[in-house]
Amino acid sequence: MKIPIRLIATLALVSITGFLSWSSLSSKATAEARTSKEARYKSLAKGSVNYNKHIAPILHKNCATCHHAGEVAPFALMDYKDAKKRAKQLTLVTQSGLMPPWKAEHGFGEFAGEMRLTEDEKGLLKQWAEDGMPEGSAVDKPAAPVFPKDWTVGTPDLITEMPEAYQLGASGNDEYRCFVIPTNYSEDRYIRSVEVKPGNRNIVHHVIAYLDTTGEGRKKDAADPALGYITFGGPGIVPSGVMAGWAPGNQPYSLPDGIGVLLPKHADIIMEVHYHKSGKAERDQTKIGLVFQKAPVDKRVRSAVVINPFLNIPAGKSGHPVEANVTLPGNVHILGATPHMHLLGTEMTVTAITPNGTTLPLVRIPKWDFNWQISYNFKEALAVPKGTRLHLLAKYDNSSSNPNNPSSPPRDVRWGEQTTDEMCIAFVSYLVDDEHLLQGIEPQGYPDFVGGGRRKRQSR
Ligand code: HEC
Repeated sequence: MKIPIRLIATLALVSITGFLSWSSLSSKATAEARTSKEARYKSLAKGSVNYNKHIAPILHKNCATCHHAGEVAPFALMDYKDAKKRAKQLTLVTQSGLMPPWKAEHGFGEFAGEMRLTEDEKGLLKQWAEDGMPEGSAVDKPAAPVFPKDWTVGTPDLITEMPEAYQLGASGNDEYRCFVIPTNYSEDRYIRSVEVKPGNRNIVHHVIAYLDTTGEGRKKDAADPALGYITFGGPGIVPSGVMAGWAPGNQPYSLPDGIGVLLPKHADIIMEVHYHKSGKAERDQTKIGLVFQKAPVDKRVRSAVVINPFLNIPAGKSGHPVEANVTLPGNVHILGATPHMHLLGTEMTVTAITPNGTTLPLVRIPKWDFNWQISYNFKEALAVPKGTRLHLLAKYDNSSSNPNNPSSPPRDVRWGEQTTDEMCIAFVSYLVDDEHLLQGIEPQGYPDFVGGGRRKRQSR
């Protein structure tokens, strides 16, 4: 399928964030769907569930990363006072699955850094609220968690940042602004980990770092009088690759030895920041820390774009299906998947169908939520053979009963970059088994993000 360049330039997310803890690559197909039903919560004696012993550990482990001062969530969940005040609400959001904000179906793929409460944990929160929120005994009180102020990926080899703080107005529409940061390396580098540090979490909704070897980003920057340049989602140019994404809750990725994300020589980083105005004038100076692979790299991370840009969702229609496929020309190891739709999307299922007809789960989002664009990365890479088809099935609700429908009355919707348009994409990141960069073997013909991180131009 040939995809118009213009469409590709608007693609807006990444599939390479968040590899948490890999020790080695395994060829075990770990992502077998496991739909084992968890046992229901068995209530404890009335009044025996208390904050110090039962509730604090749950909130500290699963909620406080975002729910503490200076982080993205609107209130803290660090101590008894915080939790008591909102006990009912905590029950509601955990029972409904709104929080923690992890949208992938449990057991359909096995992910690093999965955020999820067990039935017992949810049950304890509920019983505690119903039993009148006892605090419990001081001897059971756990220490409050401490969160790193510094880089969590280790000391970066390169810290890049916006050339100066950007001044954002108090009110109005969200703003997508791209900042151009030259790297000036005279040889290719391979990235081991990337950490994005939003400068001002009140206004930074998400950050995506693209790579540009064409100089087009610089031209756009020069033509816009303010710092950087404005787009409506995406870098506004055809990028040469993508480096990292950050959204609340995303952990920085860290690749094992021998594998890297290519940073081509002389590339500019195009840092796209999605700003959400807070009601008062604010400043932001977001930073990105890069750690390079020091030992030689044998494989680079590629990103297949499973995409259907020809969608056409009739006004009033619900449950409208859209499919897309990409076939892999050789054996690969799949690392993870990142679904992307706009506001009409309701669900997406991404699978890998092997030539003998076995369907392997990659990720399933049963209730799509535009606000949580998460990269789902496997605990262990999934080996799939040559001829495997990456398959995506998405559903859209363009009826007036969809509360997220941005058009009233509904109108026919096609592909586009406005929030009233739609998209249908899954980025699937993977490694090519036959690739051995150390022996000069770099197989061609594999699906990859535009430019695939390769140089567009050798010299500038
Ligand atoms: C990845 C970050 C993150 C984690 C982890 C997280 N939250 Fe949240 N939470 C948010 C953000 C951000 C909001 C603000 C509302 C929004 O943007 O959806 C929020 C909102 C809430 C709300 C208010 C919801 C409403 O309808 O207004 C509650 C209650 C809540 N969180 C409870 C929890 C609990 C309980 C946990 C742990 C089980 C948790 N959160 C884990 C980020 C997080």
